[in-house]
Amino acid sequence: MIGRRRKRSSPLRADSPPAEYGSTAATKEPVGDLVPVPIEREVPRFGHGSRVPGWDEAADLAKDPAEIPDAATTPVPAELRAEIEAHMAKYPDFHSAAIPALAAAQRVHGWCSPEAIIQTACVMRLTPGYLIAVASFYDMLETRPVGRHAIYVCTNISCSLCGADELLERLEQETEGDADFNVRHFECLGACDIAPMASVDGVYVGPITLSEVPTLIEQVRDGTPPLPGKQLHLRKSTDPGAARAQPAGTDPGAARAQPGAADPLSPTHSHGEPMGGGPVGPPAAIERPPPIEDET
Ligand code: FES
Repeated sequence: MIGRRRKRSSPLRADSPPAEYGSTAATKEPVGDLVPVPIEREVPRFGHGSRVPGWDEAADLAKDPAEIPDAATTPVPAELRAEIEAHMAKYPDFHSAAIPALAAAQRVHGWCSPEAIIQTACVMRLTPGYLIAVASFYDMLETRPVGRHAIYVCTNISCSLCGADELLERLEQETEGDADFNVRHFECLGACDIAPMASVDGVYVGPITLSEVPTLIEQVRDGTPPLPGKQLHLRKSTDPGAARAQPAGTDPGAARAQPGAADPLSPTHSHGEPMGGGPVGPPAAIERPPPIEDET
């Protein structure tokens, strides 16, 4: 195995860890008692520097060709079978259901284990190799055993500038040795306005301060909503302070703020006032294709 170190520079760290990340963390110049701190992370490398193990190993041509698992001898949980078949029914080409089918199997087995792959292949009438190729490409499909609580910390640019590297480090420290947790970094999760943020068992939470990490992990362990006041889907506006402005105990969405809960937004929910009120101009001209000339 070839190991290579990727050096990352975290934005800033205070001598005593900051309780809140401020806008000053967006610069790499020392500000006050904040100084740049290099963070080193190990990125696994395999043959020829690849991140994919075994990609350069020759195929074993002496092996029997892959076969579709026999439905008569492959037990599949009834609920998993029903879910996979429902996904297959949604697409004109059933191969398109491979990702949701594997995700369903992962929920049942905890990861895309050999058994999960065989069961999915059996229902979809595909070879296990086809599904292994899909599972090993998409990094939210786990190809090795992981903890059941997935915490994805966004370390893309906005979150990184607001202290995501330190947040990830703190979460890793807090969960060290606990096999129930799968803490990892992730690229932009699309919620940059609440940076630094994380997806906690599928619930977007942010901005998360270092001092909130122990509480967050405790809530996940207890099965209670993770930092309800900071959950993205409970916010009523893009103002990160809006959800927190509610008096304690009056948050109507707190009970629904469980991982995997339905979207709590009501049909009447609005992100703002309807547009309008400005001067109304003439309607735009309708563009029409040029007439086709008659060649006869
Ligand atoms: S950079 Fe973190 S959500 Fe976009």
